[in-house]
Amino acid sequence: MANETVTLTNNADGECYELALRHGSLGPSAIDISSLYHDVGLLTFDPGFMATASCTSAITYIDGDRGLLLYRGYPIEQLAAKASFLEVAYLLLYGDLPNETALADFERVITTHTMMNENLKNFLNGFHYDAHPMAILCGVVGSLSAFYHDSIDINDPRHREISAHRLIAKLPTIAAAAYKHSVGEPIMYPDNSLRYAANFLYMMFATPCIAYKPHLLAEKALNLLLILHADHEQNASTSTVRLAGSSGANPFACIAAGIASLWGPAHGGANEAVLDMLMEIGDVVNVPKFVDKAKDKDDPFRLMGFGHRVYKNYDPRARITREMCHQLLDEIPDTRDSPLFELALRLEEIALSDEYFIERRLYPNVDFYSGIIYSALGIPCTMFTAMFAVARTVGWITHWMEMMSDPNNRIGRPRQIYQGPVARDYLPISKR
Ligand code: CMC
Repeated sequence: MANETVTLTNNADGECYELALRHGSLGPSAIDISSLYHDVGLLTFDPGFMATASCTSAITYIDGDRGLLLYRGYPIEQLAAKASFLEVAYLLLYGDLPNETALADFERVITTHTMMNENLKNFLNGFHYDAHPMAILCGVVGSLSAFYHDSIDINDPRHREISAHRLIAKLPTIAAAAYKHSVGEPIMYPDNSLRYAANFLYMMFATPCIAYKPHLLAEKALNLLLILHADHEQNASTSTVRLAGSSGANPFACIAAGIASLWGPAHGGANEAVLDMLMEIGDVVNVPKFVDKAKDKDDPFRLMGFGHRVYKNYDPRARITREMCHQLLDEIPDTRDSPLFELALRLEEIALSDEYFIERRLYPNVDFYSGIIYSALGIPCTMFTAMFAVARTVGWITHWMEMMSDPNNRIGRPRQIYQGPVARDYLPISKR
């Protein structure tokens, strides 16, 4: 490498400081400023972390300009076309694709953890019938730390692994139970003879009196969405999990923190917001009006499912979900929401030819089409973000494991530029 440092010059006093460059196996290099404050007495300022690498990681790589996404080096398109969700979960968690024996063992281990503790039902029953599933998920997942004292030593790698397995196995059960609670139906126990995605659909839609067999294409579509949402490097919720974990908090509390962060409409809540938006637009004739609203700086409205902090090209996941929408709506006769898909296609077409979106490089993201798939599967809008959370749990816990096994891990503690009052004396209340 030609020059391994960059020079920082303080124009106020002419002093120069050499800062080391850090390189990854792919992607831009980073200026190592970790000793800047110690050596120079200066902080860096980067609200929203637009140009900050917060850690080193070997899990997921995104090239936003090229629209490239790799899990442990494997292109998302190949995994989406060929893998099962648990195969991808294994890949993320352990770094390599499993062979047949390893996959069978992993599936067996995850399957043995799918039930939730019976006492958790008491937590669920404490929620109002119309509680948002994300509120339930956040609370119930956080409460798991009260149940698993046998595996909560975060300094023991085996305990960390058991917690990861428990979380991956139990999230679908808890999410489906949150749904059942909201519709007043009895919670369904998992059927461990089914694969991960099929089991999830079963727990959502079976009842003790109605047999349910998931449609194969529905299972395939859900398996696909779970894979596409499984990880996305240092996004807001993953960074939240890492920050919470950096203080030594237990994994269940950290994942609950990730769920809270995911909920926002700028992040995982966008899939629900897209469907709300499409329903509000209602008809293709209204599309131009909503595109104008999105461009109006005095109007807070944004085209949900459009734009991304990292992708300045078509999100590769959106291309895959768009294709799956076509397949589902063509092949499953009972999919009710094709008018919404037509509306989404028209909205995309108009936005992508509009100067405002072209200039800002705003393209559809993964959530633009995922909600249409979920509703075609009969999953209600309020569950969409919970579905995202089920998938992303794999990514969150993998990042937590990576961080916990890093000997250089230390508590995350950003600084600030203080702009409040300077030091002043306390005045007795009668003198204020
Ligand atoms: N509609 C209209 N204008 C937009 C949009 C949008 N969806 N997204 C960004 N812009 C404009 C924004 O107003 C700004 O314009 P200007 O330069 O004139 O001020 C410019 O594009 C850059 O936007 P930004 O807000 O500075 O970009 P960001 O990187 O901080 O935000 C984002 C990224 C995803 C939060 C944002 O694009 C957004 O709010 N999109 C809609 C919500 C959404 O779909 N979120 C899901 C993201 S993908 C799944 C996930 O990560 O969970």
